[in-house]
Amino acid sequence: MTDTTKSATLTINNQQIDLPVHSPTAGPDVVDIGKLYAQGGVFTYDPGYTSTASCQSAITFIDGDKGELLHRGYPIDQLAGKSHYLEVCYLLMYGELPKAEALEDFEARVTRHTMVHEQMHNFFRGFRRDAHPMATMVGVVGAMSAFYHDSTDINDPWQREVAAIRLIAKVPTIAAMAYKYSVGQPFVYPRNDLDYASNFLRMCFSVPAEDYEVNPILSRAMDRIFTLHADHEQNASTSTVRLASSSGANPFACVAAGIACLWGPAHGGANQACLEMLREIGTVDRIPEFIARAKDKDDPFRLMGFGHRVYKNFDPRAKVMKQSADEVLGLLGIENNDTLKVAVELEKIALEDPYFVEKKLYPNVDFYSGIILDAMGFPTSMFTPIFALARTVGWVSQWKEQIADPALKIGRPRQLYTGETFRDYVDVENR
Ligand code: CMC
Repeated sequence: MTDTTKSATLTINNQQIDLPVHSPTAGPDVVDIGKLYAQGGVFTYDPGYTSTASCQSAITFIDGDKGELLHRGYPIDQLAGKSHYLEVCYLLMYGELPKAEALEDFEARVTRHTMVHEQMHNFFRGFRRDAHPMATMVGVVGAMSAFYHDSTDINDPWQREVAAIRLIAKVPTIAAMAYKYSVGQPFVYPRNDLDYASNFLRMCFSVPAEDYEVNPILSRAMDRIFTLHADHEQNASTSTVRLASSSGANPFACVAAGIACLWGPAHGGANQACLEMLREIGTVDRIPEFIARAKDKDDPFRLMGFGHRVYKNFDPRAKVMKQSADEVLGLLGIENNDTLKVAVELEKIALEDPYFVEKKLYPNVDFYSGIILDAMGFPTSMFTPIFALARTVGWVSQWKEQIADPALKIGRPRQLYTGETFRDYVDVENR
């Protein structure tokens, strides 16, 4: 627990309650209300947790006003520019950048766990041919607890470590299999001589009739997409993983819960929704119509890929993603298609429009990632599975941190009850 040298006083029902205040290493002070109900008989109310810290964490820090994202203190632009995904995975999981030998050992451990149990292939075949790959992933990742019994005991640190490595290693294989299944192509086994991103691209795009030669610029862009999505502190899916895990559930079940939460269009599903929106807009002349809809209070439509709960200046991931988009589109020679023209113009208009400026709605990471993934040849249905793949390390790191935290308690929020008060049951003939 952090030092509490400050305190806050709450006056309620003519009673003064002193509340400890924690000073974090970065970010605003945190008022500790853990004993508020015991001392004052009141709850707090904060829908969407806009002012509530649900846990202590030393993994990721975001300063939304500055547009800063730090993993273990290192800024995301430096990690995306100089590091690579598996090194960032190590950093998130163990807290420090690895020395060369430790990195080699970690990469070898991940690489040697990339294959999935052969019986899992049968499991895939139970899904309908047109199942969304996210639906398949929720099911198959959850089912890992049925295949890997020797890493489900959360009280054993070694089993936790094995589960973490298995998840990081196998989720790309599972995502690629979900894709292959959805397009009616045979599964492609992982290859241990390829790096993490190249292996994923090959598992998605290679077919028995023709191998897929991985372009290093594309695999670098893929790796960067993974890096930019690796963790994002206590977002909805991570909080879901933590809440599921607080009951002692096994790691595969917890990560499956995180995948289910990520799927929503306000969260990870936004990358698919964003590209579909750009396609629906279709041509630059239709942008004003969609901007008007986004501003209309009576229309539920929102500009996908814009806005963020925490970033109120810019999304630092979006900056790097935009550079990547330029590189990839340049390489593939598709700088001039209609979707891209709509994206460029939409961004320009939204950044100047008073509605978006006043509400601090900037393009987020999902605005550009879909453009790159589309250019690489992924269907929109694979965008969110790729986010899930990349975020697995974040979920796993936060899960490991939570289990090792002596303050761990089952998550059990209170409520502001607005229903009927006590009333006696009425027999059906008297209603
Ligand atoms: N288009 C139009 N208006 C918007 C948008 C948008 N994309 N986002 C927020 N607003 C408006 C909203 O209507 C509200 O207006 P008012 O104050 O008049 O009621 C105001 O801006 C604040 O919005 P909010 O919903 O209270 O903000 P939030 O912090 O609860 O929501 C968000 C954040 C990301 C869910 C939201 O901005 C959104 O729905 N964006 C589109 C979906 C999206 O791109 N999501 C990806 C987020 S980044 C990746 C990830 O974390 O998974």
